[in-house]
Order: sequence, then structure tokens, then C-alpha cells
Amino acid sequence: MGQISRNDMAGILNSGDPQVLQELLQAADKCRRENAGEKVYLRGLIEFSNYCDRNCFYCGLRKNNRRLERYRLGKDEIIKLAMLAFASGYHSICLQSGESDDPLEVDFLVEVVREIKELSREADEHALGLGITLSVGELEYRQYERLWEAGAHRYLLRIESSVPELFESIHPPSQRLEQRIECLRALKDIGYQTGTGIMIGLPGQTVEHLLRELEFFRREDIDMLGLGPYIPHHAAPLSKVKAGPLDPYLTTLKILALCRLTMPDINMVASTALQSIAPEGLRMGLKAGANIVMPVLTPEIVRDNYYLYEQKQYKGAEELAAEISSCGYVLGLWEWGDPLHYKKTNP
Ligand code: 5AD
Ligand code: SF4
Repeated sequence: MGQISRNDMAGILNSGDPQVLQELLQAADKCRRENAGEKVYLRGLIEFSNYCDRNCFYCGLRKNNRRLERYRLGKDEIIKLAMLAFASGYHSICLQSGESDDPLEVDFLVEVVREIKELSREADEHALGLGITLSVGELEYRQYERLWEAGAHRYLLRIESSVPELFESIHPPSQRLEQRIECLRALKDIGYQTGTGIMIGLPGQTVEHLLRELEFFRREDIDMLGLGPYIPHHAAPLSKVKAGPLDPYLTTLKILALCRLTMPDINMVASTALQSIAPEGLRMGLKAGANIVMPVLTPEIVRDNYYLYEQKQYKGAEELAAEISSCGYVLGLWEWGDPLHYKKTNP
């Protein structure tokens, strides 16, 4: 199925037939069990700051959204949350925030990563400690390198769209696609397990655009994928643009499945946006081939201010674990759950 043709993919993406979706999900699930296994790994997500210096047209955290109350967690609080995740068996966390131009933010993060790594190594009989994923946007090569040296080993940087005209329609001109691609290549070059992703169902996004996104993921040889439906946010200008033509929810499921079939050994997230857009989003995302879930560990008092899009839903870790088991997958606790793709390409 790695050979699935562009034409077949277009046919699937254009089809409104429930039978086509059903068969696609079945094929993706089979492929996932054979290549990535039946385990679902948890990444405890710590949204440590909602300050952002960018102005993406779709996002509620954008700098110009002055109504949003901003917060930044302190070092001790982040470390406490990380160690709690470690004690609960997660063994991987993701530290996420808006994008900052302030180099002091990187200094802060370097220290946080170093301390989490040290403390979790001391608490680990195998001395591996926590697997640390970062998702803090575009930085300079040397800054990525410093974070790597401090102990981070995965990085998520969604391209949002690799199609120039679509990227430009959702970002101000100061944010450049080439710059983002350069960052992804820097991350790979340093040795990070590198993840990217897009939003699906953006105004004006077509099947042809999505086929080009799939080609981009393969061409860049990514290890991890985080993609989700676009969900409008009232304080972001893109919410005023007419929706369509693609259905964000069903198209996300199809893209997940096509990604699993064409990139069988990567890690793929059943994103919070997918869980938020439909009550069965998590279950369907797993069936479509996702093998990673990111329970939100951000403290409740600030959590609602990490408001990227409307109706953002949070399921508790126990609820997530129960749902994962009930649809026939196994929780991968006490291990990092690195993408097999990375292991193969970096033996
Ligand atoms: N709908 C869906 N996803 C969004 N994100 C930001 N705004 C939205 C939205 N309105 C996603 C982006 C970003 C991640 C942090 O959240 O893909 O990379
Ligand atoms: Fe900032 Fe990320 Fe939101 Fe863009 S998507 S405004 S960079 S938090």
C-alpha cells in the first residue's frame, strides 16, 4: 500500500462514500498493527506559556489577541509536572508554548530541560530519564543545538501548510514558509526526532493541496506527524473567511489513514483538535492509524488560556487510558515509544 497512487488518493479524498472511508480505516489499522504495533504511547503535554510573538491568522494565541490573559509557568512548576508524569509511567513529555523572539526564553528552557533530564535520570533504574519533546516554534540553529545538548530529543514544528499560496493565506508576510522548512531541516541535521503537521479543512484548502502536503512529509522524511482539523477561533481573522470546501473532521481521518499507509513506521498523534471536533474523534483517530496521545498536564487554573481554537476539549489521563484500551490498543507505559522510522534511519 506504500505504492498507493496519487490518483487513488485523490479518489479517496474526493469520495463521500462511507464504505470508502470504512475500508480505508481498516487498511490503515492493519498497516499500523503490522508496522508500528498495537501500542499507544502517551506524551504528557505541558503548555508552559501562552505568550506568542507571531500573528498566525487562525490562532487564538496570536500576539494581537489582546483579550487573552497571558501566563507563564515557573521553572519549579514545570519540573514538578514533568516528574509527576514520569512517576505515572508516561516517560515522555512535550513542552509547548507560543513562539518567542526573546533569547532569554531559550536560556530558561535550556535550564528546565537540563534539570528535568537530570532529576528523571536519577529516578530511573535504566538512567534514561524522561523523553523530552519540545514544541516552541522557529529558533536559530545554535538555539536548537543548545536544547538538544540539554537533553531534548524530539521536536514538533508544524509546517501548517507546505503549499506556498495556502501558507501565505494563513500567515502574515513576516512569517515565511522557507524559514520554517529551514528550521525542520536544522532539527533533523542536529539529530532530533522531527515532527511536523498541518491543519485540515482550512478555508480554500483543496484535495490537490493535501496531496502536495503528503508529498512534502515523505520528501522531508519526517519521523512524527501531528495533524488536526482546523477549528475557527472568533478572535482570529481567519474565522471571518468562508469555510470549505473540505470537511475538517472526515478529511483529517482520511489524511491520517493515508499517512499511515504511505509512512507505516512513523509516530502519529491523535491530536487534541481531533478529539475536540467530534466526541468519537480519539477512537476514530486511533483507528485511522494514530499511535500517540498527548494528555494535557497544564494546570487547570491556566489551561483555559491556552485557547488555540473554540471548544478545545480536555480529557483526563484516566479517561484517555480507558478509551484507548476499550478500542483494542495497549497503553505503552514505562518506555519512550520512539518512532521506528527514526530508529531505522539513525541506527
Ligand atoms: N484550529 C486548529 N488547530 C490550530 N492550531 C492553532 N490554531 C488552530 C485552529 N484554529 C494548531 C496549529 C499550531 C498548534 C499549536 O495548534 O497547528 O501548530
Ligand atoms: Fe503563535 Fe503558534 Fe498560535 Fe502561530 S500557531 S499564533 S506561532 S501559538
